[in-house]
Amino acid sequence: MANFIPDEIVSEVVASTDLVALVSNYVPLKRSGSSYVACCPFHREKTPSFHVSGDKQLYHCFGCGVGGSALQFVMAAENLDFPDAVRFLADRAGIRIPETTDESNDEFYKKKRKIYELNKDAARYFHSVLFSPAGRNALDYLTGRELSIKTINSFGLGASLDEWDGCLNHLLSLGYDRELIVEAGLCIRNEKNHVYDRFRGRVMFPIIDVRGNVVGFGGRIMGGDGAKYINSPESAVYNKSKQLFALNMAKKSDRDYIILVEGYMDVISLHQAGFNCAVAGCGTALTQEQARLAARYSKNIYLCYDSDEAGQKAARRAIEIFEPIDCSVRVLSVPDGKDPDEFIKKHGAAEFERLISGAYATVRYEIDNLFKAYDVDDIPQKVELSRRAAQIIAQLKNAVEQDEYVKYVCRKANISEDSLLTEIKKQRRRDSKKSLENEMRQVSSQSSPRRTQSGQASSRLKKAEAGLLAALLTDKNTFLRLSEGINAEIFTYDFHREIFTEAQKMAESDAPFGLSELSAAFRGREGEFSEVFLSSDSIADPKAAAADFIKIIERETLKKEIDQAVAEGNREKLSELLKKQKSLKG
Ligand code: UTP
Ligand code: MN
Repeated sequence: MANFIPDEIVSEVVASTDLVALVSNYVPLKRSGSSYVACCPFHREKTPSFHVSGDKQLYHCFGCGVGGSALQFVMAAENLDFPDAVRFLADRAGIRIPETTDESNDEFYKKKRKIYELNKDAARYFHSVLFSPAGRNALDYLTGRELSIKTINSFGLGASLDEWDGCLNHLLSLGYDRELIVEAGLCIRNEKNHVYDRFRGRVMFPIIDVRGNVVGFGGRIMGGDGAKYINSPESAVYNKSKQLFALNMAKKSDRDYIILVEGYMDVISLHQAGFNCAVAGCGTALTQEQARLAARYSKNIYLCYDSDEAGQKAARRAIEIFEPIDCSVRVLSVPDGKDPDEFIKKHGAAEFERLISGAYATVRYEIDNLFKAYDVDDIPQKVELSRRAAQIIAQLKNAVEQDEYVKYVCRKANISEDSLLTEIKKQRRRDSKKSLENEMRQVSSQSSPRRTQSGQASSRLKKAEAGLLAALLTDKNTFLRLSEGINAEIFTYDFHREIFTEAQKMAESDAPFGLSELSAAFRGREGEFSEVFLSSDSIADPKAAAADFIKIIERETLKKEIDQAVAEGNREKLSELLKKQKSLKG
């Protein structure tokens, strides 16, 4: 299913977005000169090194190096891929994105959109029933399970009436087609062609996808006979095996891991206790697709299944499912036969936090991967393998666990335990030194964000080149006018030259021209790109500025060449360069 969004639309969406306003929804911005600063939302810091430029519509963090346009910001902040980030900004700006697919697909999309709408209305309806007199039982049930009103609201929980047509009548009154209501799974059509509510007298859990669409429901019985949960059937918008309950919330979590649990109630109770990175399958055993989906949001997965036999079996199965996926899986065992919900209620959040830090890692998986990657019959590769294995084992806190893995690696690689232990010790020293250095770097980057550049001269050259680019790229006309007499070779930094050449290409084509469009040509290097443009001050007179920067570049480049000629002892070249220098000054 190709969902190609035309460049023009992407440009329009970005152009309709004010980066400053967008970012300030996430972090408070403070004015500083011609731009704004904040503490970086993407890494931990105490002094702001995150810069947002209103006129360039770019951001850059001089602490951690990330940066880009509104699109990269939304991709990072909302954890979305490119097309979804465009859609996110389009929604915000009220721009409709035409789905450029063929007609049959178009029908399919229309139907999907209709069902999303219907499901959202159904969710609103169930939620309002919960807070009506008829929902009293359900509300008592939920608060009896210690859910706060805030939690109930944030998950949009609801209740279905104990009737055959409560939901049906409500949706019909909103103008939805009976057939569509059945297709969405909210009602059932029996053999006698009679249509009635699927969910009756239950607590309702809306299932929401990563984009925020309601795709289905789970309904829990509050007592009496019947299945504990019933769930929406598969539909045009709902594929159970690809859905994770609460991933829409967990993807925004500030925790760098995901906790995978079994039940809706476990998820909700964990979120309420502050573990807003918990997700669950929706009434199916874990699938490959769900595992991949989770791994897309974090490479650190904690499996937390009930400690009963069924739960443990599910955990073992889950480890197997994660086996081919590139991520680290840890198993959290919840003691005394409890599920996470009961555990949290009984022992509290701090105790759960302790379970997480003590989680048993499937280190085995990481080590086995090393044996897949390296050939132990080749000595240099064997050395590398043991070094990497030592890195992994050095992180284990439990001595017994460490011992077990040392034995395991030594047996498989045929090396002595002593030598591996020595490597592990070295690694531990390196790790502690590294964390110290990181802290130091953090401190120094805060006091002077750009101190890391090497020589002062090369920093002047780099700055002048960046300044020239910023001046040239003021807008398309300025670029066409000013770039004419400039040769790409004037840029001594490869990356600057690339930007210039790319801009030339873009200016010659009919494609939309601008910094955010240009940054899209440097996918994966947006941070470097934004650094170039946020390192210079804003430019009032591009023509004059460009001329100044060119002068500086020529002077600095010449100096560099002179240094080189001296170093090479090339007298002829030197005298030529010195003449050139004189003429420049004159
Ligand atoms: P649990 O029975 O562990 O549910 O089933 P739970 O979420 O902890 O609910 P409480 O605490 O008993 O109220 C785990 C998950 O399996 C699915 C649901 O997704 C449930 O959250 N399930 C369970 C069903 O789909 N149908 C069922 O009849 C039971
Ligand atoms: Mn439970």
